[in-house]
Amino acid sequence: MTISLQSPLDMHLHFRDEEMLQLVAPLSGESFAGGLIMPNLVPPVDHLERLLAYRERITAALKGAEFEPYMALFFRQYSEQELAEAREHTLGIKLYPAGATTNSEAGVKAMDAVEPTFKLMEEMGIPLFVHGESDGFVMDREKEFLGMYDYLARKFPKLQITMEHITTADALEMLEQHENLRATVTLQHLVITLDDVAGGMLNPHLFCKPIAKRPEDREALLAAALAAHPKLMLGSDSAPHPVSQKECCGCAAGVFTAPLLLPRLAQLFDKHAALDNLQAFTSQNAQRLYNITPRKKTIVLEKADFVVPESYEGFGQKVVPMHAGETLTWRIHKVL
Ligand code: NCD
Ligand code: ZN
Repeated sequence: MTISLQSPLDMHLHFRDEEMLQLVAPLSGESFAGGLIMPNLVPPVDHLERLLAYRERITAALKGAEFEPYMALFFRQYSEQELAEAREHTLGIKLYPAGATTNSEAGVKAMDAVEPTFKLMEEMGIPLFVHGESDGFVMDREKEFLGMYDYLARKFPKLQITMEHITTADALEMLEQHENLRATVTLQHLVITLDDVAGGMLNPHLFCKPIAKRPEDREALLAAALAAHPKLMLGSDSAPHPVSQKECCGCAAGVFTAPLLLPRLAQLFDKHAALDNLQAFTSQNAQRLYNITPRKKTIVLEKADFVVPESYEGFGQKVVPMHAGETLTWRIHKVL
């Protein structure tokens, strides 16, 4: 049994820089036609020159793979001229509340102070991507941020706002409230709960922000993904960290999923008899919501065993993927 996916897109992923970029970019480049590259480098990608230089390093690291790196600027207060110059080179701007996650120290401390930039983005048709977490109790952070989405969506009704990596049933409800909200969801939040992270032996490779939530949250997200909810896109949040920063005290947040995304999603959609909706979830929804036409690429997946490598290594780096050493029931057969 096989299925073919046309031009799959990963609308939220971390490529990093230098050696890690060299290792991970080709792994997405193999099986995706494009992806939205997150700007949380140190220092952040918050100037057009930095973004263009980063894009060139990404293109070089992709080594000719048919993969479009859609770029995101790191949110700060931008002038109208800066936005006008950046516009054609970016899909949008990613906002991190200061300190919410990996490399977000340069993020926003007070949302009301940056409203002039939201206004400009709204007028200029530049989408806003948001890491939507408060600084409250870890399980409540997303829920506590939902009021901010509600406020922004009302105050800036033409601003296209993406609720990045949603993890709760409450976030799905908010998504329904406003025409100008859309959302990404990761693979891990469709398949794990907090129990998989910390319910038994601690699994640092499943630790990410936002933290995985309750079974009922996972079920709600899964139902929406399986139905290819028209406002929901795959955004893997694949976030590689060196194994030394995961298997240690003070584990970095981020789950690395890039090389197994499509096989694992095929397995999941197959299990729930929803393979027909995988195409929309992994490409059409993003094309429509972001008005993009990706490069042509066909990924043929087949129902056959795929043993996920224990690690991916190269360029002096070692990264452990989700499901390391486990056998998945779907694999990539060929790429056309
Ligand atoms: C991401 C990373 O490592 O850059 N980590 C994560 O846990 N998801 C940042 C992010 O998207 O929050
Ligand atoms: Zn991320």
